[in-house]
Amino acid sequence: MKIRSIKGIKDILPDQMPKWNIVEHAAHKLAKCYGFSEIRIPTFEQTQLYARSIGESTDVVEKEMYTFQDRDGTSLTLRPEGTAGVVRAYLEHNLSTQFSMRKLYYIGPMFRHERPQAGRFRQFHQFGVEVFGTEDPYMDVEVISLLWQYFTDLQLPELTLYINSIGTPEDRQLYISQLQAFAKPQLQNFCENCQRRFHTNPLRILDCKVPRCNSLTEEAPKLLETLSPASLEHFTHVQNSLSLLTIPYTIHHRLVRGLDYYSQTTFEITSSHLGAQNTIGAGGRYDGLVKNLGGPPTPAIGFAVGLERVNLLVPDAVLSQPFPMVVVAGFGDQGRPAGLKLLTRLRQAGIIVDADFRANSLKAHLRSADKLGALATIIVGDDEAQKEVVIIRNMKEKNQLEVPISLVPEKLNSWIHQNSNIF
Ligand code: HAM
Repeated sequence: MKIRSIKGIKDILPDQMPKWNIVEHAAHKLAKCYGFSEIRIPTFEQTQLYARSIGESTDVVEKEMYTFQDRDGTSLTLRPEGTAGVVRAYLEHNLSTQFSMRKLYYIGPMFRHERPQAGRFRQFHQFGVEVFGTEDPYMDVEVISLLWQYFTDLQLPELTLYINSIGTPEDRQLYISQLQAFAKPQLQNFCENCQRRFHTNPLRILDCKVPRCNSLTEEAPKLLETLSPASLEHFTHVQNSLSLLTIPYTIHHRLVRGLDYYSQTTFEITSSHLGAQNTIGAGGRYDGLVKNLGGPPTPAIGFAVGLERVNLLVPDAVLSQPFPMVVVAGFGDQGRPAGLKLLTRLRQAGIIVDADFRANSLKAHLRSADKLGALATIIVGDDEAQKEVVIIRNMKEKNQLEVPISLVPEKLNSWIHQNSNIF
């Protein structure tokens, strides 16, 4: 019997890689442009790190973690997200002492035992950023603007940015009692999950996906109405600064997020081009988490993007820059070794080049170059090898040019990179 991959855990196949490369390259480039440094944290950590950061009564900790015992009995968990690990590393390595503010980003796989469906996997990849050391609302806006620019650079369609504020823990305490007073008389009409959450994690009834619960909380009191003046002022600053940068946003009163560490600003970007799993990036402030994990009080904010979902949305146009593939067609007793030498020289010159060693006639080489989508084929038969020339054939226009073999790298480079027409 063949062994197959695990449900919800996918291979990324060679034909999907060009989009993945673009998506990841754009993330590295933009994060650096915004002053972030890359960090790589382990894929598994002690279970209590996640339980304490994300919250015991969240869906992630209650039912989605891949947890196992190490040989010495320690409970370990595959990381369900990146924030907890980054905070742990930030504290463990004293990353705060070198700079007053730290901006870190990461790209890598995360693991959650969720029900697989389009856009939802058990192993998925996130690009995330975390900033430590400032509570200035400008930083909220800088982080949101990085997220917004990432998606617009990649030309993702029909984006909506939702923002909300869930205030400080004190603001929330006040709000929760109001919410419970509102929901209690109709509690039996909520789904079972919400009836349980009413006691364990009441805020989550606000973003329950069950339509019945959704309509029950439509008239619920609004978080923004119970915020302290300071929290409200912070949120007003965020809104004004988003407007200043002309980033369009919608206030979403029920945006509370599924992880417990959040405070103040929360945000999400969705695309209506996706189905039910339409959130492509989300985050918020988590001013209490660093202290909660044993560090000094340190305000922080970040987001994470689901890269599988981004990949589903990246339009083919982003890929439309032609792949500068050149094929060397060496044939005949002298042409084949001359072709092999040229292949190596072109690679040394940084030109993406390939050859089909099975082809033993010009026709076969050209057929294979067509299949690879090559822009040009460099033809070296015995005659050319003797004269120390090659024929460069433009595969699209079908015209050809004879060039001394020593000038091929230079000619190709100027054709590919400077768009100068050598034919
Ligand atoms: P999150 O909302 O749990 O936040 O996940 C962020 C993004 O990861 C989601 O919006 C979605 O695009 C993607 N994602 C989550 N679960 C799956 C899945 N099962 N399959 C595919 N994609 C998925 C966090 O993880 C926080 N750590 C974000 C953050 C960073 N907040 C502050 N800093």
